[in-house]
Amino acid sequence: MSKAKYKRVLLKLSGEALAGEQKTGVNVETVGKICDKIKEVVELGVEVAVVVGGGNFWRGRDGHQMERTTADYMGMLATTMNGLALQDALETRGLYSRVQTAIEMKEIAEPFILRKAEKHLKKGRVVIFAGGLGNPYFTTDTAAVLRAAEIQADIILLGKAIDAVYSADPKIDEKAKRYDRISYLDVLNKDLKVMDSTATALCKDNNIPLLVFGIADPENIVKAVMGENIGTLVI
Ligand code: GTP
Repeated sequence: MSKAKYKRVLLKLSGEALAGEQKTGVNVETVGKICDKIKEVVELGVEVAVVVGGGNFWRGRDGHQMERTTADYMGMLATTMNGLALQDALETRGLYSRVQTAIEMKEIAEPFILRKAEKHLKKGRVVIFAGGLGNPYFTTDTAAVLRAAEIQADIILLGKAIDAVYSADPKIDEKAKRYDRISYLDVLNKDLKVMDSTATALCKDNNIPLLVFGIADPENIVKAVMGENIGTLVI
């Protein structure tokens, strides 16, 4: 069997990645395709934690029509719905998983407890961290970085709608340069919108490598874990 490059990864999925063509809500087929690949990776012996966003259900923060904290708490509930959808799809495929929420909702899922998360990972269970960080004013990207630091993940795999980091939006600027590799400092200095600056700085300060890749083809999850040259490595 081929050998994975990483032992423990944190996979960050946007909520939109679960929505498929319909762009909102959860598309079971789309989630299933992602979970098939998570299964392949787990079967390679890789420990997988997942942080999922909530934009497929709720983008209340964008419109500035609602108080920020309220909009953010609604977003945390949206990520929890996505976490449950992922768990359902993983378990349909015979994979053990645990959802841990940043805000206690014990009837629905376990609360986030780092030591329990580590135990689950060591047992080969996929741990889905839902509810963001449990605090408003922080994104799920920041949650992904913090959880990656806490579980000491080897790398963050950031699955995005775009396939790599570019100097500008390639849909708008045809001269946009595609990066195979870039430093966190350059991402911050050039204001490249890989993640928000809080998440980027947290990654930089904790020396966590980040691979940005396109999630439209879920096979990229396997390629990323095998260390294939896809997307952009931010270090
Ligand atoms: P082991 O110690 O390896 O047996 O871990 P485990 O997760 O199987 O044990 P535990 O008894 O903690 O959990 C059994 C089941 O209950 C799992 O499906 C957990 O996800 C679930 N569970 C554990 N704690 C909570 C909780 O606070 N709320 C909810 N809703 N489920 C929980």
